[in-house]
Amino acid sequence: MALLTLTDLSVRFQTNDAEVRAVNNVNLTVEQGETLGIVGESGSGKSQLSFAIMGLLARNGRATGSVTFDGQEILNAPKKVLNSIRAEKIAMIFQDPMTSLNPYMRVADQMAEVLVLHKGLSKRDAVTEAVRMLDAVKIPDAKGRVRLYPHEFSGGMRQRVMIAMALLCRPKLLIADEPTTALDVTVQAQIMQLLSDLQRDFGMAMMLITHDLGVVAGACERVAVMYGGRIRETGPVRPIFAEPTLPYTQGLLDAIPRVDQNDEELRAIPGQPPNMSRPPSGCAFQPRCPYARDVCARIDPPLETFASGRARACHAPVAEVLARQMTRHPDTDQTAAHPGALPGQAIPHGAVAGAGAAGTPSTTEGQ
Ligand SMILES: Nc1ncnc2c1ncn2[C@@H]1O[C@H](COP(=O)(O)OP(=O)(O)O)[C@@H](O)[C@H]1O
Ligand code: SF4
Ligand SMILES: [Mg+2]
Repeated sequence: MALLTLTDLSVRFQTNDAEVRAVNNVNLTVEQGETLGIVGESGSGKSQLSFAIMGLLARNGRATGSVTFDGQEILNAPKKVLNSIRAEKIAMIFQDPMTSLNPYMRVADQMAEVLVLHKGLSKRDAVTEAVRMLDAVKIPDAKGRVRLYPHEFSGGMRQRVMIAMALLCRPKLLIADEPTTALDVTVQAQIMQLLSDLQRDFGMAMMLITHDLGVVAGACERVAVMYGGRIRETGPVRPIFAEPTLPYTQGLLDAIPRVDQNDEELRAIPGQPPNMSRPPSGCAFQPRCPYARDVCARIDPPLETFASGRARACHAPVAEVLARQMTRHPDTDQTAAHPGALPGQAIPHGAVAGAGAAGTPSTTEGQ
């Protein structure tokens, strides 16, 4: 049984103007101990997806469908149930550490408070455990620094404090929403390394939400690509990087700096993400898509699953998309070409595990 299962999860917001369809019929699983990347441009519904799981939607938002964690339905569960799940089983970290830290409390006090409340520790034992956790996230002189206030830490160190706080109750799943976006590149790499070490040591699963496919390449086993509130491509990271078969994924990959190309060849995807209160008819990517055809403006394609474990939602044949990719990047080996992407694990072009992306769909999921 998967640790987390989302079935037909949708999120709608009511505004004075219109209904915003932020997340649309998402089906997804996270297995014990795995790292799943959720990637997409700003506004694609990544954060609202995670807020729906955690029961943290804004007041004008409503989630429908199903979210099960360890077999238990948690979508729209009573506040008491959600409070205990949030503290003890699923933890979340954000781009801005101050979202989860109280600026007016010493780190020792706020960390201890969690352990006293949820684990029944004495204050003294709780502070000892807090210091141990600050050590685990590699904060130097944890014993001394636990007495500080959050603002007395540098940006990267504050991020570490937030991670320590999130992991205090040893959650089974960590949802990290753009955890390194605000940090400079060096600190970003350190935090990603830390997260991956902690994940291994604690045996927890991670859902890593980011707009940056480069971050996904370095950290995740599987990826789900979101656009317009829908998952439009999923599968193991390496084959998707080696042979992107969805026009949108190709666009995201083309926008990452590559070590084997100069910057002039970097291409941002033209146009804007859709307005989710007035999404285009048919495929939401159609106004920006170089592969668009008549049917795309009429019918939103369903997500088709292939024997290789990959799935995509697109009317353009896989062979056509791959052929154009080959013309643009004859040496396509995206994983090796991107800095930080699975170093030393080059994938020969075409050597995709399983039946390959160009195989016949084995099942058709609902949208
Ligand atoms: N409280 C709200 N009311 C109306 N629309 C919202 C609200 N919160 C988020 N949205 C909209 O939901 C969509 C998805 O947002 P979000 O999940 O935050 O995107 P991202 O992928 O950047 O994390 C966006 O169009 C955003 O404007
Ligand atoms: S369905 Fe059509 S518009 Fe959408 S990504 Fe595929 S080819 Fe492009
Ligand atoms: Mg977001």
